[in-house]
Amino acid sequence: MSTTTSLHGMWSSRLAFILAATGSAVGLGNVWRFPYTAGEYGGGAFVLVYLLCVAAIGIPIMMAEIMLGRRGRQSPINTMRALARQEGACSAWQFLGWMGIVAGFLILSFYSVIAGWTMAYVVRAGAGQFQGIDGEAAGAIFNALIADPERLLAWHTIFMVLCVLVVARGVASGLEKAVRFLMPALFVLLIVMVIYAAQTGDFAGGMAYLFKPDFAKLGAHAGEAVLSAMGQAFFSLSLGMGAIMIYGSYLNSQASIGQNTVIIAVMDTMVALLAGLAIFPIVLANGLEPGSGPGLIFQTLPIAFGQMPGGAFFGVLFFVLLVFAAWTSAISLLEPMVAWLVENLGFSRVRAATLAGVAVWLLGIACLLSLNVWSGFTLFGKGILDLFDYVTANVLLPLGGVLIAVFAGWVMQRRSSEAELGLGANAVLYRGWRLLIRYIAPAGVILVFLNAIGLL
Ligand code: PFF
Repeated sequence: MSTTTSLHGMWSSRLAFILAATGSAVGLGNVWRFPYTAGEYGGGAFVLVYLLCVAAIGIPIMMAEIMLGRRGRQSPINTMRALARQEGACSAWQFLGWMGIVAGFLILSFYSVIAGWTMAYVVRAGAGQFQGIDGEAAGAIFNALIADPERLLAWHTIFMVLCVLVVARGVASGLEKAVRFLMPALFVLLIVMVIYAAQTGDFAGGMAYLFKPDFAKLGAHAGEAVLSAMGQAFFSLSLGMGAIMIYGSYLNSQASIGQNTVIIAVMDTMVALLAGLAIFPIVLANGLEPGSGPGLIFQTLPIAFGQMPGGAFFGVLFFVLLVFAAWTSAISLLEPMVAWLVENLGFSRVRAATLAGVAVWLLGIACLLSLNVWSGFTLFGKGILDLFDYVTANVLLPLGGVLIAVFAGWVMQRRSSEAELGLGANAVLYRGWRLLIRYIAPAGVILVFLNAIGLL
């Protein structure tokens, strides 16, 4: 077991790690991305595959990622280089860290734009704009927002500044305190929304939509649907790009990786399912289109806030909490590059965070322009924002995940992982993990890839 510490600081307690990692996992991926992708692929069957991926692929890979981070105690690039050397493997493994940096860069550039929509909705909710609106009016408000590049740019800029501020101060201070209160608050508010949806929306319909798998609905797109469900699991759990790895590098050596992983994964999954249960009853009761894409929650939740008593208050609270959830995720996307800049170029944290933030901000501008001015420009039938969203979640993160699994399961010596995971006395658990990480997780991801490109 490693007894070292990271030069970037350490979490003050095990709880601090759980909060930070849950803060990373729970974000727009759960509340914005999960419902809209589930809606695009018809609900139940997608959700079932997603849950399977979380359990059989996500959990073992999260354990591996935390384990590698804690053993390396550096940015993902340097961690992978150091561990490869320790295990007598080729130093090209650091490429895994580089791929993660690229993925984080692309994800944060569009993530910040969507977080910007969320901030814009705080203002709209507070101004009473949702009062009594129907589906059509909600759609019009949303379309007006995304058609306005200046507004989008303003919100995107504010969000990136917020991220840089926290990362510049160091992840452990500040973040810990924020997450402690905000996560539980978001959870409670989501439950309030579900209760509201149960009373006024088509709750039975929503339940059936999410939990009654109908594989026929996947139809000709089954391969792509399964790939997207797996991608959603990686995205939602923050896996495959080094975010969880770097958070693991700040974790003390005594903490149980397995236990922490299960807690984080369960909380993350519950938030996604609650978000689905809050949204689909409203979608169905109002005759809206579940597959309407990334605007889904922004076109449905305002209807509920416009009808419920105290809707302006709940609306503001909900979108504020969602901004915080996005914020605590975005920080973890920025941290790996910042840690690398500090380690390798000797930058101060402030300088490193600013530089990384500006670079992401620039790329984010391309994302937000793809919603309006550049909407005519598409690659593989998708605009820049949609393309980044699709490629990172469905290709880069799972690919990173396979490499992590192969390293942890095949390259790393058994006694290294056994000691680091500390499941020692519990041989069954360790053997279970090893089976999943060596065979099930990599084979699962590769089969899903092959299936999606039609080779299977
Ligand atoms: N897990 C975050 C969410 O669900 O919103 C997004 C995310 C964070 C993805 C960090 C990947 C990552 F490395």
